[in-house]
Amino acid sequence: MNKLFHLITVPLFTLTLLLSPFVLKHSFAHGKEKHASATKSSITYTKDIKPIFDNKCAKCHGKKSPEHMEFVKDVKKYTAKKIGPKMDSYSHLVSFVIWPDAGSLAKALDDGKNTEDGKPGKMYNRLGKTDEERRENLNVFKKWVGYWTLKPWSDITKDEIARMKIVY
Ligand code: HEC
Repeated sequence: MNKLFHLITVPLFTLTLLLSPFVLKHSFAHGKEKHASATKSSITYTKDIKPIFDNKCAKCHGKKSPEHMEFVKDVKKYTAKKIGPKMDSYSHLVSFVIWPDAGSLAKALDDGKNTEDGKPGKMYNRLGKTDEERRENLNVFKKWVGYWTLKPWSDITKDEIARMKIVY
């Protein structure tokens, strides 16, 4: 009986010991990942993006602005008045990241590293008064999006969208 007991428990014990680092590592990594999207250190819309937006973008993309679909009906009129499409809520802003206007926010804010002509996007200058401020704020937007691409909806893949973070 004793011998049989050892015959089963010893290999079982060894196997558990051998596997435990993998099991632990896996569950830890999984937990960490989950944790990251909820901790204060991660970039969120409410904590990080909204204050920048209110400060740097809201006067042209805020309450007085039309819905994007309305805006495109008369781009000239709105642009002349320095009014851009409405982006002053989480869902409005996300529509310029994923759908229907994927890549639009990145295209407007990029510093030129990812644009076709190597020039900064139209709204890059609005990110700050100094190079440093612009760089910092761009970095916050980039981290918030999580996967920075200028690809439009027609080219972006589901896989790429899945890599985005855009935490509320
Ligand atoms: C002085 C007014 C003004 C400010 C400030 C401003 N924008 Fe704009 N924005 C516009 C106008 C007008 C347009 C549309 C015309 C154009 O594309 O040039 C526009 C276009 C855009 C677009 C492209 C929308 C599209 O047609 O797909 C994005 C994205 C954008 N702005 C984001 C921002 C962000 C983010 C900020 C703040 C960092 C910002 N803008 C600051 C006026 C402004």
